[in-house]
Amino acid sequence: MNILIVGSGGREHALVWKLAQSPRAKKLFAAPGNGGTCALAENIPIAATDIANLLRFAKEKNIGMTIVGPDDPLALGIVDAFRAAGLPIFGPTKLAARIETSKAFAKMFMGFYDVPTAPYRTFIDPEEARAFVQAHPLPVVIKADGLARGKGVFVCKTREDALIALEKLMGSGAKKTSPSAVVIEGWVQGSEISLHAFSDGKMSSAMPISMDHKRLLDLNRGPNTGGMGAVAPIPWILPETAARMNARIIDPILRGLSLELDPFVGCLYPGVMLTENGPIVLEYNARFGDPETQCLMRLLKTDLIDICEACIHGELQNTAIAWSNAYAACVVLASVGYPDTYKNDVPIKGIAHAERVPGVTVFHAGTKRIGGRFHTAGGRVLGVTAVGDSLEIAIQQAYKGISRISFPGMQYRRDIGFRAIYPELTS
Ligand code: GLY
Repeated sequence: MNILIVGSGGREHALVWKLAQSPRAKKLFAAPGNGGTCALAENIPIAATDIANLLRFAKEKNIGMTIVGPDDPLALGIVDAFRAAGLPIFGPTKLAARIETSKAFAKMFMGFYDVPTAPYRTFIDPEEARAFVQAHPLPVVIKADGLARGKGVFVCKTREDALIALEKLMGSGAKKTSPSAVVIEGWVQGSEISLHAFSDGKMSSAMPISMDHKRLLDLNRGPNTGGMGAVAPIPWILPETAARMNARIIDPILRGLSLELDPFVGCLYPGVMLTENGPIVLEYNARFGDPETQCLMRLLKTDLIDICEACIHGELQNTAIAWSNAYAACVVLASVGYPDTYKNDVPIKGIAHAERVPGVTVFHAGTKRIGGRFHTAGGRVLGVTAVGDSLEIAIQQAYKGISRISFPGMQYRRDIGFRAIYPELTS
């Protein structure tokens, strides 16, 4: 079948890479794609949020399945629009995606379905929010209710930081979300992990547990980013612990969404903090994580077309999903200045050389191809992934791959995966 992948990051390149291995894939299209996807798919210059044109294109090209990468087209109702036109699409409806698109809704829903999460309050009145943070124990976490492109969460260690965050989210210059502007909750300490599960609206199938590295710098310092690297699975999480977490965190929410909004079809991705007192859910995402998906696609053995099709048609129970026993690591190479301002159009060297390191595949995120050369075209530029028989080997090979790549201003973390091997390291 012809398949359309919506999005342009490392996640989408990893999905395209996996789909391209299927004997069922006739032609792949990526909208808009990047410098890496164009080797396996045809890049289509339609933005991920341009639903009308994506729909027109899908009809024209007889697309048998569309897979949505990012959150914003889900929030805009791409799944509803495609379904209304009779086009199969992998992803939740606008209503089911509220579990990600409204933090206030998600917190309320977690309370209702007894999912462990930090105590919180929701505020629409800036005065009340300010008064609340003056009295709340520190640190305090302030979250924008709606999607904020990774810039909506503030961990505030001082009252001054909290007031600055509130000013950014609720001040006169801030773009208001409605009906609730911010969620304020207690800070929880521990190891942050990512759960992922395929869902057909009736049942779920959990993927290996992964770990993202959201801070820009080593030792979990510096500003939050979209994610600077990931590893999977986490060697010290026992299968029975993983099964218990999935049952407590994924299944009740899927049941609740089905009962109260829309059955959730797609990938549910809860961010979880493992604390001394057990797992605490930080947030739900209604899509694949990035860079986690770059690791997960390297470990998935089953045909991704079969899985997505089973989810769309409510037939997950008839689909056995197999995962490799190996480990995967992904280290993100970013442009200097990321996550704030950075320069594009910087030439990149050494990608093909890096891919000759055993176990290494390089996924593109912010790149474009000019002739036979690659140039930077974004903050997160490449995800150097590697698989190995142990997490140590996977990490070692990923860094060996990186040693062969260079571009002016290239920055990356040197400690990806260390905390997944040694959880006792402080974060
Ligand atoms: N791994 C971070 C995200 O996908 O939102």
